[in-house]
Parts: sequence; C-alpha cells; structure tokens
Amino acid sequence: MTSSPEMRDVDTSKAHSARMYDYYLGGTNHFAVDEEAAAKVARVWPAVMTCAQENRAYMHRVTRVLVREHGIRQWLDIGTGIPTEPNLHQVAQSLAPEARIVYVDHDPLVLTYAQTLVRSTPEGRIACVLADFNDPEAILNAPEVEQVLDLSEPVALSLNALLHFVTDAQDPYGTLNQLLDALPSGSVLTLSHSTADFDPATWEKIVQIYYASGTPFRVRDKDEVTRFFDGLDLVEPGVEVVHRWRPDAGEAAEGRKERTDAEISLWGGVGIKR
Ligand SMILES: C[S@@+](CC[C@H](N)C(=O)[O-])C[C@H]1O[C@@H](n2cnc3c(N)ncnc32)[C@H](O)[C@@H]1O
Repeated sequence: MTSSPEMRDVDTSKAHSARMYDYYLGGTNHFAVDEEAAAKVARVWPAVMTCAQENRAYMHRVTRVLVREHGIRQWLDIGTGIPTEPNLHQVAQSLAPEARIVYVDHDPLVLTYAQTLVRSTPEGRIACVLADFNDPEAILNAPEVEQVLDLSEPVALSLNALLHFVTDAQDPYGTLNQLLDALPSGSVLTLSHSTADFDPATWEKIVQIYYASGTPFRVRDKDEVTRFFDGLDLVEPGVEVVHRWRPDAGEAAEGRKERTDAEISLWGGVGIKR
C-alpha cells in the first residue's frame, strides 16, 4: 500500500459521507460533526442503520456469487468506506485466497484506517489508493492498480453506495464507461444506489440534510440506476432492492426480520461486460 495520507489531511470541520456511514454501522471512527449530521438523518429515517447493514450483507452475497459462479478473482472497489468487518477482501479471500483487491476512496481517513487494518492473505494482494471516482484516469493510472490487478483478466468494478454522491453535472454514466472501457470482457459491474422510489417525502429531507452538511446527494429511480448497466448483461434477478437480491436461504431459515423496500431504499445489481 503506497498512498500515505496523514490524519492532518482529514477535514473534521464538516461531516463526511464515509464517517456518517460508519456511524450508521455502529462504528466509532467518526467525529462529532459527522455524528451530528448522521443523527439528523436517523431522526427523519430511523431505518438508515438497517439500510447500511443490508447494504453490507448485499455486498457480501454479491462477492460470494462472483467468486463461486463467475470465477472473479480481482476487484476494483471505489468508495470503499472505513473498514468494517467482514470487508470485501475478507469475503473474497475466504473463498479464493489468491484474490486481489484495490480499494479506492477519496477520504484520507478511509485510507489511513485501511492501511492500518486491512491485511491480505499471503496468496492474494491488496492495495489502497486515495483517488476520486470523478478522475478515472488517476484511478486507472495509479501504480497500485498496475501492480495488483491484471487488466487482461476480468475485474469486478464495485461501486457500492457510491454513485448517489455523484451528481448529474459530474456525469457518472460517462465516468463509469471510461472505467469499464479499461476492463476486459467478462468483467463485472456491481453497485448499490440510494433511491427515493419508495418514500419520496422522507428522501427529500435526507437529501437536504446531506446538502446542508456539505455533501451533494443524488437519489436515482430504478430506470436511472438500470441505465448504469447499459450494454452489460444483467445477472438474475436484475436490478433489485438489495435485501431481495438473492437473499441467502439461511437468512430466511434463521427467521431474520422481513424488511420493507422503503426501509432499504437501495437498488442493487450486477452486470457482466460482453
Ligand atoms: C456510504 S460509503 C459506502 C462504503 C462501502 N462501499 C459500502 O457500501 O459499505 C460511501 C463511500 O464512498 C466514498 N466516496 C464518496 N464520493 C466519492 C468519490 N467521488 N470518489 C471516491 N470515493 C467517494 C466515501 O468517502 C465513502 O467512503
């Protein structure tokens, strides 16, 4: 891991999405300003904690499906978040110890924690890169990407709970295409994305809280999320609310509480590049 941000690079004067998400997940790696904004979201939408947990569970399931059914051994995970166990590499490497993962985030705090907490299996490799999704060339040209990933072999591009932080003016569809263009046939796009489809009134308030705390937020409806998969072959069940994207049989057997779509409010999907 070579990018070495310092704690002094971390802006604690305003809330940050990674640290707010850490609060939703019950973590302790956030500051008062993050807690204040995240608590406001939790007041208007108490389900946010459930949503965050279901988003992680979805990421775990997708990772297992990609290893077992699609032979994926490499990930480019953008918008990684503060490490929360089990992390993507732990799920992938538990099934395929040789798996290689490059984690990318634009928050120096995420990188600081990742460099301290994330450890690869001896057979696999992990690198962490401080970079912005909106600068795909910086990501693709990062030395860590070249050192860890073999771009002649399929790569899973993982954008979980990231693209709702990218506004239309920033052209997320164009940026995504630039990233996918660099990956070979058989590569995969996997993502989750916040939506107001099931509870527009609450989401209007949530979006306002994010904007007021300095973070632009763009919820997208199902058609807009499905557009991210244009030109890719969607894996069954297609774009689905994440808790209903191939739930584990064991989860139902354990009597896990049935969630409503409004409680989750995240579309997810997996598409394969032809
Ligand atoms: C809600 S967290 C999601 C974490 C993890 N992917 C997950 O789904 O559990 C969003 C992450 O995206 C990062 N992020 C937001 N905008 C970004 C951007 N433009 N470039 C890179 N990372 C970004 C934030 O710093 C944060 O760590």
